[in-house]
Amino acid sequence: VLAHGADADLAGRHVVVSAGGTREYLDPVRYLGNRSSGLQGYAIARAAAARGAEVTLVAANVTLPDPAGMKVVRVGSTSELRDAVVSAAAGADAVVMAAAPADFRPTGVSEAKIKKAADGSAPTIELMQNPDILAEISHNRTKPGQVVVGFAAETGDETGSVLDLAAAKLKRKGCDLLVVNDVSGGAVFGSEVNKAVILGADGGHVDVQEGAKSALAEVIWDQIALRLDEHRA
Ligand code: CTP
Ligand code: CA
Repeated sequence: VLAHGADADLAGRHVVVSAGGTREYLDPVRYLGNRSSGLQGYAIARAAAARGAEVTLVAANVTLPDPAGMKVVRVGSTSELRDAVVSAAAGADAVVMAAAPADFRPTGVSEAKIKKAADGSAPTIELMQNPDILAEISHNRTKPGQVVVGFAAETGDETGSVLDLAAAKLKRKGCDLLVVNDVSGGAVFGSEVNKAVILGADGGHVDVQEGAKSALAEVIWDQIALRLDEHRA
């Protein structure tokens, strides 16, 4: 049953979707992580499969069952996510980075569980930056016309509005589309609904009203399909 577009408009396309949030271990039991549930990425992967695409879903620490009809690769850290996405993206028609990679990792992982000191002091954890997967994929396209999509959860601050920050991020990352969520207040995390603006590197701007994450997924694939068809035409 095809919910949208009424045809398999992604048949013959190979697409990669990342979902969930990465974890960076400090010791065998503790990690730095984030609040991504993976729901939006899973909805995007499911929508692509329903529209006929061959889908590789790279899932970071998601507690959802593997969706049927696609290849699922499970990863933990941002480095593992990077390796899995880069390898799956080779020759893919589209890559959608819906995952929330941890931006930093500890410079070292303690092999033993970190203990509390008797004097009441706390350890200092030194961090280093993780690789930027979206920027790497965007700047090293492995197929002509490959469409690369990023997500941005922004709150706006004294340096700019949500949309100003997003436009700058789109440029910095070099992707074709950036799906922008206003997360002031923490509303989207674990939620079944989402509201977004999709910014295009071509200056395009699509407003998506609040609705199911599955509905946003269809609009994202509509935008990707448009660009894939333009390239083929
Ligand atoms: N992303 C990525 N690799 C990273 C960090 C982010 O591929 N190491 C991707 C995310 O999957 C998302 C997009 O980049 O699609 C934007 O993520 P975001 O965290 O908003 O971007 P950052 O460059 O990390 O900027 P910020 O400092 O605002 O967190
Ligand atoms: Ca980040």
